[in-house]
Amino acid sequence: MMTDQYAVFGNPIKHSRSPQIHSAFAELTGQDINYVSTLVEADQFQSAARNFFKDGGKGLNITVPFKQDAFTFADELSERARRAGAVNTLIHQNDGKILGDNTDGIGLVCDISTNLGWAIEGKKILLVGAGGAVMGVLEPLLQQHPAIIVIANRTISKAQKLARDFADLGNIQGCGFDELTESGHFDLIINGTSASLAGEIAPLPNSVLTAKTQGYDMMYAAEATPFMRWMHEQGAQQTADGLGMLVEQAAEAFTLWRGVRPETAGVISSIRTAM
Ligand code: ATR
Repeated sequence: MMTDQYAVFGNPIKHSRSPQIHSAFAELTGQDINYVSTLVEADQFQSAARNFFKDGGKGLNITVPFKQDAFTFADELSERARRAGAVNTLIHQNDGKILGDNTDGIGLVCDISTNLGWAIEGKKILLVGAGGAVMGVLEPLLQQHPAIIVIANRTISKAQKLARDFADLGNIQGCGFDELTESGHFDLIINGTSASLAGEIAPLPNSVLTAKTQGYDMMYAAEATPFMRWMHEQGAQQTADGLGMLVEQAAEAFTLWRGVRPETAGVISSIRTAM
């Protein structure tokens, strides 16, 4: 019998850790799978995905910049993918239809609450950024019943639109960075901007945090990210980067594909060590 084929599609893709993560999961759970990373040209997503599944592929992970293309490609969408407006996991179902799902948000929630042990319920959360990364995690975060989520973004209208679109799921507001001086402090600040890719951070007033505030960066790096360093400089209690989120979204995808959930702790630490 042929080994089941999986891949991650993205551009760029060279530094993707997904093959390493899924190979580790397969070994841990005794599953016989093959998982590769595939560089897809900007306008080639639909044909590359169609060919992958036509050749018998069982599932895909989708990363930048194709999560919206995958949303369009899927025959069916999970409710959480519909809410996220993006798909990071495609599943070849028994009926031949391709299901699009999104495991990013559950990956974030799992890393924060299970791995780090930080509470979300009843907490005041500041979510920085209003792009695809933030939209992808709003529903699972709101399902944990925080007291409030304030979305702050450079382009204020995008934060306000997200707040409106998710208002049915909980207490949520959108604003710009300047207005945060009126917001008091937060229990948890999550960075969902891509600013750190340019070595920058969003200009937050330091009134948003106290010595009890926790900071989570959805980005990850070998060293502390600029956002994490800024949080520490302002006296935040603790910070974490998004490596755990990456491994947890992968674990959720693996579970959807294989029906068995891998242990993640050892995988997170071995990838951290190799960074
Ligand atoms: P992603 O899918 O990674 O979220 P995106 O949809 O392009 O990517 O969104 C990038 C986010 O990072 C946006 O919230 C963007 O702010 P704008 O909506 O105002 O563009 C934010 N961002 C990027 N660079 C930033 C910077 N230097 N300072 C502050 N915010 C920044």
